[in-house]
Amino acid sequence: MDKLIIRGGNRLSGTIPISGAKNAALTLIPCALLTEEAVTLRNLPRLADIDGFQHLMNQFGVNTAIQGTRPEDFGRTMRLEATRITSTVAPYDLVRKMRASILVLGPMLARAGEATVSMPGGCAIGNRPIDLHLKAIEAFGAQIELTQGYVKAMAPDGGLPGGDFDFPVVSVGATENALMTAVLANGTSRLFNAAREPEIVDLCNLLVAMGAEIEGIGTSDLTIHGVKRLNGATYAVMPDRIEAGSYACAAAITGGAVRLEGAKAGDMQATIRALRSIGVEVTEDAKGIDIAAPGALSRIDLTTAPYPGLATDMQAQLMSLLCMADGASVLKETIFENRFMHVPELARMGADISTEGRTAIVKGPSTLTGAEVMATDLRASMSLIIAALAAEGETTVRRIYHLDRGYERLEEKLQLVGADIERVDD
Ligand code: EPZ
Repeated sequence: MDKLIIRGGNRLSGTIPISGAKNAALTLIPCALLTEEAVTLRNLPRLADIDGFQHLMNQFGVNTAIQGTRPEDFGRTMRLEATRITSTVAPYDLVRKMRASILVLGPMLARAGEATVSMPGGCAIGNRPIDLHLKAIEAFGAQIELTQGYVKAMAPDGGLPGGDFDFPVVSVGATENALMTAVLANGTSRLFNAAREPEIVDLCNLLVAMGAEIEGIGTSDLTIHGVKRLNGATYAVMPDRIEAGSYACAAAITGGAVRLEGAKAGDMQATIRALRSIGVEVTEDAKGIDIAAPGALSRIDLTTAPYPGLATDMQAQLMSLLCMADGASVLKETIFENRFMHVPELARMGADISTEGRTAIVKGPSTLTGAEVMATDLRASMSLIIAALAAEGETTVRRIYHLDRGYERLEEKLQLVGADIERVDD
């Protein structure tokens, strides 16, 4: 297994290319199930989860091809063609490795009239239930059975009538599954309190490009008029707002100046507001974002929330940055029940953080020192890398497969801006 070795203290400077968004790609890929025609997705990040999803689609009989981009390029093009479906089952051994596989449930049901998907189970940050995915699809007229760890969804003869569903909790994945089900229903469906994340807008944009009829895109009330069939399309995945936010924190913690090429500032205003409140200089333009942090950093209070609030996926990275700020910052995590896995590891690097339930108090500025640390969940692992870039001495991060799931060529991108980081065999 690989590990990363980082020697802190270098000010980062230069340009980092931002890749296509992992969390958009993982909901755009299953859309190929909704049509017999080819769906071509461009700007896909080179990540393990994307390869895993391609393999899962192949299990269903979907033809896929990665169209060439030079190995040194960041990003790939994938062509998917679900001319015929040879299986409607997503098996446990594939789903357990990648819980986003649950996103095939809706589109498979809509296309084939049935779908059997292993329950994804929890992960490090929480038990990650899927009850809202199932309730939304039931509201559209599907019959749901839970047997032997699998969800089996069936549509009535003649197809799904469609219906209304009011989300008691904002759920990104459940909104995505509901959208990919409703687009081929016989009637009109309405979603209330739906997620509004940019990844949802990206999904709606692809579905509309395929011929779907969706009103209210970007708002929490969505109306979907079912259509008989959808066409193929070619679509470029949005840039990754969490990757961009992560590298912004990396640049800021080193007091550097970095350009995030391709980042879309409009998708990450809450993160930009937080960075500016901390004292980071953020300059937005149509092609990217410039980050600079020449001066001292100030404490702030942060609370994560569904979009357009501050992304829970940015909490760990901002916490690392706040270890270097003057004063005590209070961070409240409202989305997941166990998303402070990075705290004990940061403490081992000299951070002063106390937690009480879903609240963390970060006191700074701390003198961070390098240490041997363990990656746990994806964003917690990135927070350790960010801290290591400012720490005195050498940090070794193990179990970095967590990182490879969400950050394309992490060490190469950081080397581009002068970080002293290398990947070695463990
Ligand atoms: C997506 O997960 C993202 N993953 C997560 O990113 C992100 O943290 C999360 O949205 C919130 O923004 C992908 O897009 C692949 P939710 P998802 O359903 O859809 C509860 C990363 O690091 N809930 O919005 O699973 C749930 O327990 C990952 O890139 C139910 O109760 O998140 C949580 O408390 C981590 N029942 C809250 O809703 C359900 O049926 C939000 O979860 C579904 C969710």
